[in-house]
Amino acid sequence: MDLDDTHPALSDLAAHARKRVPHFIWEYLQSATGDESSARRSAEALDRITLVPRNLRKVSPDLGTTFLGQRFDLPFGIAPVGMSGSVWPGAEAMLARSAARNGAPFSLSTVAAMTPEAVGPHLGTGWFQLYAPGDPEIRRDMLKRARDAGFTGLILTVDVQTPSRRERQRRARLTNPMQFTPRILWQTAQAPFWALAIVQNGVPKLRTLEKYAGDTKAKGETTSHIGYMLRTAPDWEYLAAVRDEWDGPLMVKGVLSAEDAARATDLADAVWISNHGGRQFEAAPAPVDVLPAIRQAVGPDYPLIADGAVRSGTDILRLIAKGADYVMLGRAFHHGAASFGERGVDHVFHILREGLKADMGQLGISRPEEVRDHLG
Ligand SMILES: Cc1cc2nc3c(=O)[nH]c(=O)nc-3n(C[C@H](O)[C@H](O)[C@H](O)COP(=O)(O)O)c2cc1C
Repeated sequence: MDLDDTHPALSDLAAHARKRVPHFIWEYLQSATGDESSARRSAEALDRITLVPRNLRKVSPDLGTTFLGQRFDLPFGIAPVGMSGSVWPGAEAMLARSAARNGAPFSLSTVAAMTPEAVGPHLGTGWFQLYAPGDPEIRRDMLKRARDAGFTGLILTVDVQTPSRRERQRRARLTNPMQFTPRILWQTAQAPFWALAIVQNGVPKLRTLEKYAGDTKAKGETTSHIGYMLRTAPDWEYLAAVRDEWDGPLMVKGVLSAEDAARATDLADAVWISNHGGRQFEAAPAPVDVLPAIRQAVGPDYPLIADGAVRSGTDILRLIAKGADYVMLGRAFHHGAASFGERGVDHVFHILREGLKADMGQLGISRPEEVRDHLG
């Protein structure tokens, strides 16, 4: 089966993934918070951006991108997603291997279902995403574990100041660790391939945090509580402490304000413009709408990453046109993993790569950043 014929668009993979995973898992992956307008806004804002083709030019599209001192084959990569392994068992390793094969960075969440140590052997370029532990000893230990496992970049996520309500997840009765209530078991029975993979791999858990569960576990808390108890809402002082403790590239993720972005440039090597896939704050702006002001605030050369609702190579170019240097995707890669395992993740890379090349040909450009002259 040639996936390019049966599933030529990322939306085809999303539709297939939906049939392969139980309802509560789909709700976990797709949901945003509140009325989900922030997630819709991100997609609509991208759709509104038009790019003007130039004709009668000879071009040879080259997607190679130098970012944070490193050469990548692609201007996009995999954003951190907590509990990837619940979307498809073993997904963290699949995503890491596929990213390595495709010459792109892979980000591992603090709340992943695999530890940095377990993912390390599968890495090409790995970025570890930190949900700020309140205890500096735990923070230092996590950073050491990530570094020792081969992660070269660190992402400090700053947009989870408070847990959001995520009403859709609540309605789906999502719990962590998974509790196999009759309702959940019924939904699981509708997704036999997922159920089989879970039986083979074991029930997904917040493996990286298990080491720190300590007394909390003894008190009968669930792992999701452990996750929140370990976390704090980082402030500028916290960012400075992380800067001192990490000597590789440091990215600050979840920034939407030009003022915050400008201030972060003193401490971080890149700012990652994101509304967390719409999962934190219903009124958050679309990343692409705040990009131009942030670009202006940080200057032309400061590295900016952006994400949110990217569903095609065209969307990647739209973000680059508005000032991003690098683009990341969360859900789309998980649609690939849930549809066809590692082959599905490779197919997401393929769709985006081929889409980018086709669009660059239309625009008459050889390098992605040349798209900035085509806003129309
Ligand atoms: C199910 C899910 C879990 C996520 N978990 C994390 C996380 O653990 N850490 C983090 O920094 N961002 C997390 N994010 C946000 C992503 O890194 C990224 O910002 C977002 O998914 C981009 O939007 P997209 O999914 O439309 O591509 C998560 C997103 C989703 C959908």
